[in-house]
Amino acid sequence: MKTVYLDNNATTQVASEVLEAMLPYFHEYYGNPSSMHSFGGQVARRIREAREQVAALIGATPDEIIFTSCGTESDNAAIRSALATYPERRHIVTSRVEHPAVKSLCANLAGQGYRITELPVEKNGLLDMEQFVGSLTPDTAVVSLMWANNETGVLFPVEKAAELAHERGIPFHTDAVQSTGKIPINLQKSAIEMLSFSGHKLHAPKGIGVLYVRKGTRFSPFLIGGHQEKGRRGGTETPRASSDWERPANWPPATWIWKTAP
Ligand SMILES: Cc1ncc(COP(=O)(O)O)c(C=O)c1O
Repeated sequence: MKTVYLDNNATTQVASEVLEAMLPYFHEYYGNPSSMHSFGGQVARRIREAREQVAALIGATPDEIIFTSCGTESDNAAIRSALATYPERRHIVTSRVEHPAVKSLCANLAGQGYRITELPVEKNGLLDMEQFVGSLTPDTAVVSLMWANNETGVLFPVEKAAELAHERGIPFHTDAVQSTGKIPINLQKSAIEMLSFSGHKLHAPKGIGVLYVRKGTRFSPFLIGGHQEKGRRGGTETPRASSDWERPANWPPATWIWKTAP
């Protein structure tokens, strides 16, 4: 029987060129990129190239890219980072139509005492922007709105929403799992502070996610461990000594910021 697969929003087939490029790293070049020897170093080099390519896809710089394990992890890392780095704020703004990666996390955080505003959508699936602005308060730690909806394909005006949040000093995160690779994204001139996406939605293997964190954004890691990803996500991956991140003495533990804002 011939199978016709029409569920590419759920996941995609690994592209042949991706498979071909990756196969040597499962068997031949299996060194740990964090190792001191050149066997691991060659893998680190390839990860560095991959990071440059991923950054170019969204108009970011390589240092703004953190590799994670999936879109869900990136979403969790972004929202939890904002809460950790603005501990005095107890409010989150999001929408009613987010993927469970955001929606269930917010429900969990509500159980921990955070106040959640879930903005409704209109008949056309869009947000009422006046209502959005009205929801932003000095207590808001983070806004998290998806870029493209996984069920309807509706695009939220996240760049505009990010500007409105930014003007009020509120970090803005977008779940761009369904838009990255499908619409042009250029974060160079955008007010979006954090953006998540996932490899398996665009013909890469499952198990690879990306979190973009704009230079100058406060960040606290979700997975704390080794020095990988410049201390922003522990777990065997790529080695890069950090010289341009620092932790201000009066900040909560495990919180870093770029020394130089953009
Ligand atoms: C909008 C959206 N966000 C997040 C996710 C979760 O991504 P992942 O499966 O990589 O954890 C999905 C997956 O369907 C999604 O569609």
